[in-house]
Amino acid sequence: MCGIIGYTKKNSEDKLTTGKILSDGLKNLEYRGYDSCGIAVLKKTNNNNDIVLKKGVGKVREVCEKLDFNYIDGVLGIGHTRWATHGKVDKTNSHPHLDCIKNIAIVHNGIIENFQKLKENLVNLGHKFSSETDSEIIAHLIEEHLKKGKSFKESFRLAIQELNGRYAILAIKKDEKIILGAKFGSPLIVASNEAGNFLISDLSAVENYSNKIAHLQDGQLIEINDLTIEVTDLQKNKVDIIWSFRNIQKNEENNLKFKHQLLQEINEQEYTIIKTIESNVKQSREFAEQIIKSRQVIFIGCGSAANVSFLASVLFTKIAKINASYCIASEFESKLPVLNEKDLIIAISQSGETADTMEAIDSAKKIGCKTYSIVNTEESSITRKTEKTILLRIGPEKAVCSTKAVTAQIAIIYQIANYLIDNEEFNEQIQNAIKNNSFIFQPDFSQTISMLAKKIVDKKNIFIIGTAEQMPIALECALKLQEVAVVDAFGFASGELKHGPLALIEKNTPIIALFNNDDTDKFVQSNAIEAKTRGAYIIAINAKDDSEFDFKIKFNQAFGFNTILNLIIIQLLSYHIGVEKKLDVDLIRNLAKSVTVK
Ligand code: F6R
Repeated sequence: MCGIIGYTKKNSEDKLTTGKILSDGLKNLEYRGYDSCGIAVLKKTNNNNDIVLKKGVGKVREVCEKLDFNYIDGVLGIGHTRWATHGKVDKTNSHPHLDCIKNIAIVHNGIIENFQKLKENLVNLGHKFSSETDSEIIAHLIEEHLKKGKSFKESFRLAIQELNGRYAILAIKKDEKIILGAKFGSPLIVASNEAGNFLISDLSAVENYSNKIAHLQDGQLIEINDLTIEVTDLQKNKVDIIWSFRNIQKNEENNLKFKHQLLQEINEQEYTIIKTIESNVKQSREFAEQIIKSRQVIFIGCGSAANVSFLASVLFTKIAKINASYCIASEFESKLPVLNEKDLIIAISQSGETADTMEAIDSAKKIGCKTYSIVNTEESSITRKTEKTILLRIGPEKAVCSTKAVTAQIAIIYQIANYLIDNEEFNEQIQNAIKNNSFIFQPDFSQTISMLAKKIVDKKNIFIIGTAEQMPIALECALKLQEVAVVDAFGFASGELKHGPLALIEKNTPIIALFNNDDTDKFVQSNAIEAKTRGAYIIAINAKDDSEFDFKIKFNQAFGFNTILNLIIIQLLSYHIGVEKKLDVDLIRNLAKSVTVK
């Protein structure tokens, strides 16, 4: 979590100020953290260089405007958008952090595990701390080495060697026109373009430029100025940079066609599902070939990606008669005793940066398992860690709640499962399912769902039931309702209702029943009716016989892809409840888009 950017300006005559470039980058990195943000710019004042520091609490756009970031110019600068992990959300805990004499400024993404001990030592040496963060110690460690007469570069290197944990760190010093960076565990990319040289958490920070880019590896240090870029390892050995070229398209944020980013991304699904399928025919076949060769396949992921992994295990058994399993990435340790080098692990991730998923991949690799991935973000850590990746190719997902990435992941799972049984009609079938039901992306349908949202907006619980492949979808629907509608939502197998949750049913408690239009419908039907006799308000999605239910939503022939359509409808419902409650549906409280800490 947290996004960082460092920038050294190539042309001092350039009208774009350093503050503007940093704040544009931070706006694009905001999904990584949006508690607070700040910049430190090296500026010439009366023949001296000085660090101008501006930071504040709030959304990036608000802080940038309030503190006039765009009007701050200088030869270089660093910026940070924070997602609090150590220390409450306030101005002092926001980055950049300074040393005692305001000589050094640093930004940090990650967690310093041994910070308590380091802080104690520094306090004993007389250092005064302003914040409660783990990050601030980095500025003081550098200061301590400078005091001993070491150069800035050497002090930085020595400070980094004292840290345990995960980090991407940038540091500047008042009288040196360089930015120093270090990486371990958290992403750090160096980019070079017509505006200057950059160090960034991810490529979105430099969109709209034609970039030469390189990913730093763990244990590397970097020094950039307006002209040169130099990478070394921690022992000062020079490392060759392997550049690649990326044309990063501007995400037309200002061209939002909908009121919210989330609604835009929900609506984009009319095209993204088909796009991902069409782009990945060859790759999905390659995945299917490796699955056949493997002793077992295990899908892993977190949050929504864990729900998709669960769904994958159900669909592989159902469609391809393959015994696939799944594991929540943070629980992967428990699987290690039964793995060997004949096994295939498929990691699912939108961001490609989720720490729990990355750690699980590393553990699987140590055992010798093959590791593949299904990821949305190109050039992300997971794409580089795994042997083969299916890239979703559906454009960046910016709303914190995952929608279009989830349905694209589901579509890919169907594609691989269908290729395993040589169903050559698969692509056409899924396309027809979406085309037949394009009405769910129309304003009239959104209006109907908004009416339903108004009816249930004040309910304290919502239950979602389904069986077979609808059960993981029920979990995913519950997650959407929790995040966006901030309601106690629970998803489970419809058969489980009578084994406990029925005790929670009061008059008009909403239960959403997900139907699959096959033999399993009769179970969901009877479970839903049992709940109705105890007072529940039943919302039935695509039930054949919905005469007894309270709110009915129907769609057209879906060729076995009810999972995707059911989910999109509940994404929309979650959105409308969130809007009714006047919540921020794009930047959800307490959540970050990319969870890069354990
Ligand atoms: C839910 C959501 C999260 C993510 C989870 C994994 O809407 O966005 O639960 O699914 O944090 O993130 P990725 O897919 O980036 O690994």
